[in-house]
Amino acid sequence: MTISSLSTQFAEIYQQQPTDFYFAPGRINLIGEHTDYNGGRVFPCAISLGTYAALKPRTDQTIRLYSVNFPEAGISEFTADQLEFVAQDWTSYPKGMFKFWQEHQHPFLHGFDILVQGNIPAGGGLSSSASIEMLFGKILTDQFQEPVDQLTLVKMGQEVENKFIGVQSGIMDQFAVGMGQAEQAILLDTNTLKYEMVPVHLQQYQIIIMNTNKKRTLADSKYNERRQECEEALKRLQTISDVTTLGALTKDEFDTLTYAIGDETLIKRARHAVFENQRTIQAVQALKNNQLQTFGHLMNASHISLEYDYEVTGIELDTLVHSAWQHGALGARMTGAGFGGCALALVAQDQTDNFMQAVNQDYQARIGYAADFYPAKIVAGPQKIH
Ligand code: GLA
Repeated sequence: MTISSLSTQFAEIYQQQPTDFYFAPGRINLIGEHTDYNGGRVFPCAISLGTYAALKPRTDQTIRLYSVNFPEAGISEFTADQLEFVAQDWTSYPKGMFKFWQEHQHPFLHGFDILVQGNIPAGGGLSSSASIEMLFGKILTDQFQEPVDQLTLVKMGQEVENKFIGVQSGIMDQFAVGMGQAEQAILLDTNTLKYEMVPVHLQQYQIIIMNTNKKRTLADSKYNERRQECEEALKRLQTISDVTTLGALTKDEFDTLTYAIGDETLIKRARHAVFENQRTIQAVQALKNNQLQTFGHLMNASHISLEYDYEVTGIELDTLVHSAWQHGALGARMTGAGFGGCALALVAQDQTDNFMQAVNQDYQARIGYAADFYPAKIVAGPQKIH
């Protein structure tokens, strides 16, 4: 995406030139999946696939939005006091940010004409929604010169998801997108929000993002269901222990207490949350020690746990990941919420072409359509780009 192509498109839609340009990344999560609403650790990073905006401030209070990705939606026009949620409409994300921005007592000084264009596959598990939220957080703070810190914007994005969109998601996506740094991943303790930036040195290896191209449909309801199952398991554990989150338990402590859960499905869900958190701690240590093989094994263990205990993978993700294992990946796992979306593989740089071809062949034979592959480049969070 270039400034000049954004300008051209902006001029076509709004018959004038834009004045400012912004970018916010998407994210991948290296390990620590479905732990962020269980008080556990996550280990995500921001990626170069993301969302761009070109804009021109207006003198009135009207906001006009247009997305190159959803041309059929046309131009949405509204004012900052007319912010209604509309299902399946991308403008709900910016509208949510405008709403909570004002609810937190920040001034909304004037309207804008804004054109947005993203290169994150929508519904692909790379946080296109958090990317849009953090993009608009950056636009609002920059355009209105409000000194709002990045963590406040991150929490605002999560509030949009929880209270406006209706997905009970954790804080990982907005945190990864909002706080990302080039070449580094973020070890975040979601219980305390303490975090550490960890350089991602992969020697001769490269992270490949593998997209199932399966759009998630029931993702949101299943996502909320998993969250409820974990809450129920925790409640049952609390009848015999004073544990406050699943992320606070070691594997041994969990084993000792498991009988109190008393339900096979709930035990599997909670076991995933507890073990995945411990795996994340181990994996970060392995990366710091340059033990990439151990890191890869822990990625694989994470996928197995998401497949069998948490049951959020599905045939498409399993096919990609199992095929990646067969074709020499040092590690591979689904990333994000699951139920479709994307997986990651750690692949030797000089093998990536053969790898992608072989995995795609397996995928097509089994699933009937092709997967997409992108090398992951780890970049910094939201930026004004011009
Ligand atoms: C989605 C949610 C995140 C997190 C992941 C699973 O991306 O938005 O908060 O729970 O799923 O790790």
